Amino acid sequence: MSSHRLLLLLVAFTALLALTTAAEYNVVDYGARPDGGTDSAGAFLAAWGAACNDTGRSGSRPVLRVPAGRFLLSQAYFKGPCRSAGVVVAIDNNGTVFAPPALDSKAWIMFHHADGLAIRGGTLDGQGQEYWAFGFNFLVTGVGHTYIQLQTLDISQSKGVSVKQLTLLNSKVFHMAIFDCTGVTVQGIQIIAPANSPNTDGIHVSHSRHVSILNTTIGTGDDCVSLGPGTSNVLIRDIECGPGHGISIGSLGWQDGEEGVRNVTVDRAVLTGTTNGLRIKTWAMPNSGSVTNVSFSRITMNRVANPILVDQNYCPRKVDCPGNVQLGGADQQHIIHGHRGHIGDARCSEVQLQQHQPLQRDQAHEH
Ligand SMILES: *[C@@H]1O[C@H](CO)[C@@H](O)[C@H](O)[C@H]1NC(C)=O
Ligand SMILES: *[C@@H]1O[C@H](CO)[C@@H](O)[C@H](O)[C@H]1NC(C)=O
Ligand SMILES: *[C@@H]1O[C@H](CO)[C@@H](O)[C@H](O)[C@H]1NC(C)=O
Ligand SMILES: *[C@@H]1O[C@H](CO)[C@@H](O)[C@H](O)[C@H]1NC(C)=O
Ligand SMILES: *[C@@H]1O[C@H](CO)[C@@H](O)[C@H](O)[C@H]1NC(C)=O
Repeated sequence: MSSHRLLLLLVAFTALLALTTAAEYNVVDYGARPDGGTDSAGAFLAAWGAACNDTGRSGSRPVLRVPAGRFLLSQAYFKGPCRSAGVVVAIDNNGTVFAPPALDSKAWIMFHHADGLAIRGGTLDGQGQEYWAFGFNFLVTGVGHTYIQLQTLDISQSKGVSVKQLTLLNSKVFHMAIFDCTGVTVQGIQIIAPANSPNTDGIHVSHSRHVSILNTTIGTGDDCVSLGPGTSNVLIRDIECGPGHGISIGSLGWQDGEEGVRNVTVDRAVLTGTTNGLRIKTWAMPNSGSVTNVSFSRITMNRVANPILVDQNYCPRKVDCPGNVQLGGADQQHIIHGHRGHIGDARCSEVQLQQHQPLQRDQAHEH
């Protein structure tokens, strides 16, 4: 081959590569410092803006790259809609993005209107330790959902999202919240916080459709996965859960006219050392919502206090309980008696419902 033809080939090859390789936006090029001390929020947002505005080459999504190192991020709201077909946030496996000990309000990292978002690799450390010690008591006044804020990762009003191979550590409150999304896949992620950290739910999903949570390990101080109002077509498969409060549907029925939960499959889960296994919890208020077509199969439970729990009088702090005249000891729980150890394909018609007088958590294992 002549050198001329070789050159032509090389040029053609380079052009092809440029066409098929996604554009990269490295946060370090925008001023982020992997030094564990400089706030890199401005740099992350600038890189996002550039990636989000990239119209893309041959449909490939631009990459927002976070290399190895420790990045302090005070708070970041990544907003779309984007001109690109989505953004791939690729964090090096030795890259950690960590939060300051205190946050004013709202989520730490938020993606809003981020259709086609993909998050891959790395660690998001919420640094919740100080917050657990001081913040919880003044934020939670009475009942309600005032504390569903300060999530580590909040994804809202987005379509076609995937989150893979990510580690979430020590969130101040929920680790991940998915709100009003369609088509979300969470796969191969790990969520870790101590058993005594308050309200550190793993993944909370609400008002969302077509959500898959696969091959994921969650051990926290609250629910591993919780499904809130308006959620449908959810597949949860190959989950390891514990410590924590188990896998929950609810709490539901807090607001009048709230939508229910429909078509949920939990398949192949191992729950270890959790207070509950599979739970459906509703506040005791008149409500037209419903929970339908829920299937639990191939579930293994080890040292789980309440394997299956349907609580229609949910009121965790026993104060200001709605529609509940007798407070405290009188909450009646419907416990479905499961087999201890392993529950396989239990159909509702095959399990007995019994009404209990006040049941203490530490007595539950006797039933
Ligand atoms: C995209 O570019 C426009 C104009 O250059 C700018 O106003 C907008 O803020 C950019 N988008 C993002 C997400 O930064
Ligand atoms: C990960 O990064 C840290 C510093 O950012 C470094 O000390 C450590 O050696 C790295 N580990 C690996 C396996 O690359
Ligand atoms: C499950 O996730 C782990 C990381 O948490 C990964 O190493 C493994 O390859 C995944 N397995 C499958 C079948 O996706
Ligand atoms: C129920 O959810 C599954 C995902 O687990 C989905 O494949 C199926 O299409 C849904 N069924 C209906 C009727 O929406
Ligand atoms: C009910 O759940 C099953 C899976 O367990 C799913 O295949 C089916 O589509 C669901 N039906 C409805 C009406 O949601």
